[in-house]
Amino acid sequence: MIDLSTNCGGIKSPNPFWLASAPPTNSAYQVCKAFDQGWGGAVWKTIGEPVMNVCNRYGGYDYNGQKIIGLNNIELISDRPIDKNLKEIAETKKLFPNNAVVVSLMVESKRETWHEIVKRTIDTGCDGIELNYGCPHGMSERGMGSAVGQVPEYCKMITEWVTEVSTIPVLVKLTPNVSDIIYPARAAKAAKANGISLINTINSIIGIDLDTFQIMPSVAGKSGHGGYAGSAVKPIALHLVSQVARDKEVNLPISAIGGISNWKDAVEFILLGASSVQVCTAVMHYGFRIVKDMIEGLTNWMESKGFSSIEDFRGKSLEQIDDFGNFNLLHKTVARIDQKKCIHCNLCYIACEDGAHQCIDLIPVNGHNKTVVRESDCVGCSLCSLVCPVESCISMVRVDDKTESKTWNELMKEYKNENKPLTWENLAEFQKAHGIEIH
Ligand SMILES: Cc1cc2nc3c(=O)[nH]c(=O)nc-3n(C[C@H](O)[C@H](O)[C@H](O)COP(=O)(O)O)c2cc1C
Repeated sequence: MIDLSTNCGGIKSPNPFWLASAPPTNSAYQVCKAFDQGWGGAVWKTIGEPVMNVCNRYGGYDYNGQKIIGLNNIELISDRPIDKNLKEIAETKKLFPNNAVVVSLMVESKRETWHEIVKRTIDTGCDGIELNYGCPHGMSERGMGSAVGQVPEYCKMITEWVTEVSTIPVLVKLTPNVSDIIYPARAAKAAKANGISLINTINSIIGIDLDTFQIMPSVAGKSGHGGYAGSAVKPIALHLVSQVARDKEVNLPISAIGGISNWKDAVEFILLGASSVQVCTAVMHYGFRIVKDMIEGLTNWMESKGFSSIEDFRGKSLEQIDDFGNFNLLHKTVARIDQKKCIHCNLCYIACEDGAHQCIDLIPVNGHNKTVVRESDCVGCSLCSLVCPVESCISMVRVDDKTESKTWNELMKEYKNENKPLTWENLAEFQKAHGIEIH
């Protein structure tokens, strides 16, 4: 029996798939429809101060024929009145008692204003509150959103205003537009938050029309930076989630967000410690129905790996993350080309020749060029295998004897003990002794 249910900071849901606070969670109509299709939870589109949106508000980053690998927006928080939203939230929760209904909030930085909105939100019967400290445009100019998330002291102060009156779990949603995500995360912890959501959108300009010179999205000839989301941001989100998950001082449940569009993305975030995952852009592109594949894919994968609950694999990959100084310098791989699969496109040769270490030769055979790796010169960078368009044609094969290990930190410690200076000559001697000469 596979159990997909999760508990993220006290917020329970039948599966880890939540909708992120965004246009798909703007109304009861949408959230109820999403729950019907299988979403485990939803973070309501941020409610708060009166706002007015502009047209156009979205810009898509298309690449090589693929639409919206990234999505930029200059949308604000909900442009529907607070009363209306709260009423619909209460109705939705009554209809779906087992789904997680989380309400995202953003109001002006006044204690009484926060107290009031938090109490009214709790009265809806919702399961939790998410504090939007991430919106990088429009609201930040008014001292809200990322203007709070970027200053740990504000983050702590406002979170305290919320946690001192909240009787339900509070998640703090962080902005990635900071130099170190750990500080706002620790501030949230110090203010007794129950969990961290990340990431909100990344500051960006999505592109410029080369005929009109107009920056997109264009609002009657004006434009500006917007928040970037979608598949393209996943690697950044994975890194930031892992940073928060590894920090012993933070030590809070995580609801991961950023570029999640299928079950595999979700598994990656859970392997880095997330208790739930939130999706926005993929739903804006393909609709609520994608959750069916996500549930099926996750269930099948868990079955194939022998996992019966999310906790069985949550955080499993975290222990691999370490400092560069602790990597084994003697781990040696070389590229091997499967000549039976090679289509002689020579992309590996060009990439190695111009962009890497010149260790692939072109040898004329029967009217075409055979690509052959000079293994003694190959530094194991793996660029050739990344550019190769044929699945598993180029593999990186481990060639060291797997018995030796020496990290940079260990080597430097040895040098220190032996009073040996760090020089190119001493490093070359070490490399030569271990067959890793650099030409
Ligand atoms: C059009 C749009 C509107 C958004 N509005 C909000 C919002 O009101 N509150 C909020 O916390 N995040 C908002 N977000 C950010 C998303 O919740 C999410 O953090 C971000 O899009 C990254 O997830 P994704 O890559 O799955 O889209 C918005 C994102 C988009 C694209």
